[in-house]
Amino acid sequence: MDPIAKTAYYCCGVRMLDAQSAQPVCGDHLAERFMDAEGRALFQPFLRFTAPNRSNAARHRIIDDLLRDRLAADPGLRVVLLGAGFDTRAFRLAGGQWLELDQAPLIARKSRILPESDCPNPLRRVPIDFARQSLSHVLADHLDDDAPAVVVLEGVSMYLSRDALATSLAALKACLPSHSLICDLMTRHFARRYGARLRAQIARLGGDFSELMDDPAAFVIEHGYRHAGRHSIAGRALDHGSIRIPRWVFNSLLRSLRDGYRVHLFEHP
Ligand SMILES: C[S@@+](CC[C@H](N)C(=O)[O-])C[C@H]1O[C@@H](n2cnc3c(N)ncnc32)[C@H](O)[C@@H]1O
Repeated sequence: MDPIAKTAYYCCGVRMLDAQSAQPVCGDHLAERFMDAEGRALFQPFLRFTAPNRSNAARHRIIDDLLRDRLAADPGLRVVLLGAGFDTRAFRLAGGQWLELDQAPLIARKSRILPESDCPNPLRRVPIDFARQSLSHVLADHLDDDAPAVVVLEGVSMYLSRDALATSLAALKACLPSHSLICDLMTRHFARRYGARLRAQIARLGGDFSELMDDPAAFVIEHGYRHAGRHSIAGRALDHGSIRIPRWVFNSLLRSLRDGYRVHLFEHP
């Protein structure tokens, strides 16, 4: 499997641990189905990253909650998961018409274990390497009207160069005239100060981060999006009690931990 696709096992392993814990934050009980011997072997060296792992589960929960709100208001909403990995939301959340995009070997494996035909909501999976193939062509082939949509880009932006991110945003704007974009964005400072050891472990899988930005949200705004919300990932883990830091420290000495890695909500137009 492609090195970046292997990182999907990391996120899935985190959700498996969360689901097995006494107080799950996102409760993704389907995650463990994907964690076969190869997946568990890949995940093993990540077990020691307790706080980042719990924050990763909190990231997933933030996005679950944002999607649940939108799906409650519009059960027919189209949901596009770009770099879907082993995301099981189409099976776990009520409503939505789901389109999952990822690399071909990952999609093939996912569909063997959790077939589209078993999904309670309409679901299509489409193989793509969006670094090499045209995302706009693939989206145009699979989205045949201008209905509103929500796009999720989770755990992906840090692997994309600025050009690749800009190209993906342009494709989304061209193919989805009205959409929300939910996307986690990490600052350069956060990655250096808090993410270095995890990043080194991810690099051992072969997936290295791209050059990160000081203000990645400003980059998305410059590309034609309106900023509609942001959620601190570590802050959510703290709210759930899955990481423990005194609030006053978090809100003063550790402000860069609070603010350097967030889930953002953008709207287009
Ligand atoms: C860290 S995983 C996150 C997966 C999932 N969104 C989650 O949060 O569990 C990154 C995902 O992005 C996908 N990805 C990265 N670059 C890609 C590309 N150029 N084309 C298609 N998928 C890509 C990988 O295959 C992988 O599944």
